[in-house]
Amino acid sequence: MDLTGTSVLVTGASGGIGAGIARRFAEAGAAVVRHAFTAAGDFVRADLTDESACHDLVAEAVRRVGGLDAVVNCAGVQPDQDLDGMTVADWRAVVDTNVLSAFAVTQAAARVMRETGGSITHIASIQGTQAAEGHAHYCASKAALIMHARSAALEYGRFGIRVNTVSPGLVDRPGLAEAWPDGVERWRAAAPLGRLGTPEDVGDACVFLASRSARWITGHDLVVDGGVSARPTW
Ligand SMILES: NC(=O)c1ccc[n+]([C@@H]2O[C@H](COP(=O)([O-])OP(=O)(O)OC[C@H]3O[C@@H](n4cnc5c(N)ncnc54)[C@H](OP(=O)(O)O)[C@@H]3O)[C@@H](O)[C@H]2O)c1
Repeated sequence: MDLTGTSVLVTGASGGIGAGIARRFAEAGAAVVRHAFTAAGDFVRADLTDESACHDLVAEAVRRVGGLDAVVNCAGVQPDQDLDGMTVADWRAVVDTNVLSAFAVTQAAARVMRETGGSITHIASIQGTQAAEGHAHYCASKAALIMHARSAALEYGRFGIRVNTVSPGLVDRPGLAEAWPDGVERWRAAAPLGRLGTPEDVGDACVFLASRSARWITGHDLVVDGGVSARPTW
């Protein structure tokens, strides 16, 4: 995929998956604006639970690279919490970080892309379509992202703006196998492709969706999970 001459904003680019996405866009030749919340380095920093910070982030990205052809909304949190002990503040912390951020960044980006068209991709999850204990707020937030993207595809299509989601399965990160050995082993066994994902597996899907090769794809949820979702549970 050659994205030379295009510019992309990746939110959550200090995280494991976001860093991989930003790397893949850079390798494809795009000018990449990397966002982070707390991390230090060459990032535009913003708390994306704040609507005006989302709009400011998009404005800063345009200022840095002179336009915006693609956005990947990857910033997100995924705490484990049982429903019985969950407070409204817990719920809001997840839903605002995962959903409000994508809504507001997309709204601002679509205003920039209105004349030229563009591509917006939210990083959802297979937990947007499959429930998980301790993750009710997270699952609900990822389902919301999938439906936001589909609805946005309807409204922004007339401007040549495509909106999709990528739904990863379990993506490897340093320390995961040590922290959750049985879970990782179960995952490997369940995945037809026999391994966990890498940030680059997700990044390549995002680069594809932002490229001309995906020019007739919008409102789609692209599952990137090594085939885990294809396995019957009975
Ligand atoms: N890991 C997986 O297996 C997996 C699977 C499916 C989907 N996902 C999704 O993929 C995305 C990235 O996951 P990850 O594993 O790479 O997570 P991660 O390493 O924890 O990274 C999370 C990113 O979100 C940013 N962030 C957190 N709170 C924020 C806030 N209030 N405002 C703005 N940015 C904020 C963090 O910024 P700072 O680091 O700068 O604070 C960081 O860049 C998430 O949306 C997650 O739900 C992950």
